[in-house]
Amino acid sequence: MSHPNQARLLSGVAIVTGGSSGTGRAIAVALAEAGVETVVVADIREDPREGGDPTPALVERTAPGARAVFVSCNVGGSRREIKRVFEVADKYGRLEVLVNNAAIFRAQTFLDVTDYDLSLTIDVNLRGPFVFAQEAARRMIKNHQGSIINIVSCARGAAGRTVYCTSKAALASFTYSLAAELGPAGVRVNAVTPGLIETAMAMQDQPSPVATLRLDAIPIGRIGQPREVADAVVFLASDRASYINGASILVDGGVANSLFLPESAAGDGMSRG
Ligand SMILES: NC(=O)c1ccc[n+]([C@@H]2O[C@H](COP(=O)([O-])OP(=O)(O)OC[C@H]3O[C@@H](n4cnc5c(N)ncnc54)[C@H](O)[C@@H]3O)[C@@H](O)[C@H]2O)c1
Repeated sequence: MSHPNQARLLSGVAIVTGGSSGTGRAIAVALAEAGVETVVVADIREDPREGGDPTPALVERTAPGARAVFVSCNVGGSRREIKRVFEVADKYGRLEVLVNNAAIFRAQTFLDVTDYDLSLTIDVNLRGPFVFAQEAARRMIKNHQGSIINIVSCARGAAGRTVYCTSKAALASFTYSLAAELGPAGVRVNAVTPGLIETAMAMQDQPSPVATLRLDAIPIGRIGQPREVADAVVFLASDRASYINGASILVDGGVANSLFLPESAAGDGMSRG
């Protein structure tokens, strides 16, 4: 059942990787409120990193009539492990949406990155989404319908984040290639590109960017909330975005496309009151 204040935009089954916490959790709720009948949460852990009820309970409370199920899955694991998620999803009907949201991040200087660190991050942040998209595409092509959304990052390059930024840049490029390949089959593939969002991932970075960032570097003047990313995902997943394919929506308060100048250097710029 869709949220009482929201037109029903979506239906069928959606898979959200990393849906137990943070942004993925908000995406699961928002998809259900928009009309998705079953949300499959594929995550390596069931309890939210930030605390609270597991996502299925939250979804079923906030979107009465919607169903949500948790499937334990390491998205960086084997294809067999990933296939199990789809076998569960298949029981509930037609797969209409896949959101590749799960990712890991670790701040490390370049010379400290080990082979293990490199493989782990690439497996979770890139190989996993690739395999999830393959399994989803097999189903969506048959239906000539579906939407795949990859969560990338506006951090295109940053010191101490070589592996993470590389994995996300590759995921963005994958999005554009896949959109070109699957568009003729009726499957749209897009990315959502968050800026700094208030989740456990953002808080774990040491020193925490939430604690140290000058919020006036963000044109909107504040950190983003998971729901603000989720709303962009719902839009891209829905028919309201029927001619949007191979795109990326920035949800970053304007930070990626702006040049930060401290007010003194910016001259007579408008100050925030
Ligand atoms: N928070 C930010 O500031 C920010 C900024 C840009 C992009 N992003 C991206 O947004 C997405 C969501 O991030 P978040 O901030 O909500 O992170 P988070 O750490 O709060 O949540 C990530 C979820 O993914 C799950 N996960 C981690 N490794 C997994 C694995 N191997 N298999 C399955 N699940 C796994 C975690 O258990 C957790 O539930 C990620 O793709 C992240 O890169 C976040």
